[in-house]
Amino acid sequence: MRRAKISIIGAGNVGATCAQWAAQKELGDIVIVDIPDKVGVAQGKMLDLACCGPIERFDCNILGTSDYKDIAGSDVVVITAGIPRKPGMSRDDLIETNVKIVKSVSENIREYAPDSIVIVVSNPLDAMVYTAWKATGFPASRIMGQAGALDCARFRTFLAWEIGCSIEDVSALLLGGHGDDMVPLPRCTSVHGIPVTDLLDEATINACVERAKKGGGEVVKLMGTSAWYAPASGAVQMVEAIVKDKKRIIPSAAYLDGQFGHKGLFVGVPAMLGSGGVEKVVEFKLTDSEQKLFDESASHVEELVGVVTKMFPELA
Ligand code: NAI
Ligand code: 2OP
Repeated sequence: MRRAKISIIGAGNVGATCAQWAAQKELGDIVIVDIPDKVGVAQGKMLDLACCGPIERFDCNILGTSDYKDIAGSDVVVITAGIPRKPGMSRDDLIETNVKIVKSVSENIREYAPDSIVIVVSNPLDAMVYTAWKATGFPASRIMGQAGALDCARFRTFLAWEIGCSIEDVSALLLGGHGDDMVPLPRCTSVHGIPVTDLLDEATINACVERAKKGGGEVVKLMGTSAWYAPASGAVQMVEAIVKDKKRIIPSAAYLDGQFGHKGLFVGVPAMLGSGGVEKVVEFKLTDSEQKLFDESASHVEELVGVVTKMFPELA
């Protein structure tokens, strides 16, 4: 059987940790690309990771490089290239630098891995997914963004801590852009089907909602840079669903073609992920207040896409 090939662009905190999770799960061969100035870092991290194989018992080829030719034949490419935020910055403050990086990375993916499925992680997430879609010219089903997997994991963790149960037993859903206006859905959140609203009072649930919304900022404040373990774990959950054709339903930034009342935008929604990429957006009826919050979040994504297209009219 042919092994999957997974390429990761950016060998920084998130990229290198994606490589680590993917290797540990033995999802396929791994290539990690960084800029020529940082190729030593990419190669050094991958050499170090490869030497974990005998201990952790994974078999895969692992390569650090600055040459995009090495991504040829990739099944999945994860884009983590770009600057992270510093304390006091919002994800949106990164747009000017990161749109240039994601555009040039995407053009290389178009040239060297034209059949790949692309998962974007770089921020501001939803606008970077749009950038990658336009700059690769790939069908929308082969472009998606990682945010919901992470945001849901944060929400589940905070709820489990409050309930005092294992995080494995909490299932949760949230929608919308990857910003402080993301839309957690307590009514779709349960412990083995027991609504979380039966287990926690409203104030406690609201505190978990707020903490999940600001979870990224909480880490930035503590460390001076953004998170990487959980973001990489979320991205690799998506990679796994694709390379194993699992048809998992994972909240992801996916292209909307009328679903949830929006068209032409990538926003966080439940998406079925398999070997075809986003195989389906799983639509369901929102309450009026959920729809209002979702619309607000989507209009913020629209504004950011407007900034991208103003900078690069060819991406409109
Ligand atoms: P980092 O600074 O540790 O790593 C970024 C890497 O990208 C650096 O090694 C840099 O040399 C590389 N890079 C820059 N331009 C490149 C290019 N043109 N080609 C290849 N590589 C290039 O940053 P970190 O912490 O890994 O974050 C990466 C991005 O992911 C940031 O934009 C951050 O905001 C975003 N992020 C998104 C999350 C999400 O849930 N969607 C969560 C956490 C971070
Ligand atoms: C996070 O949510 C910064 O988007 C990144 O941790």
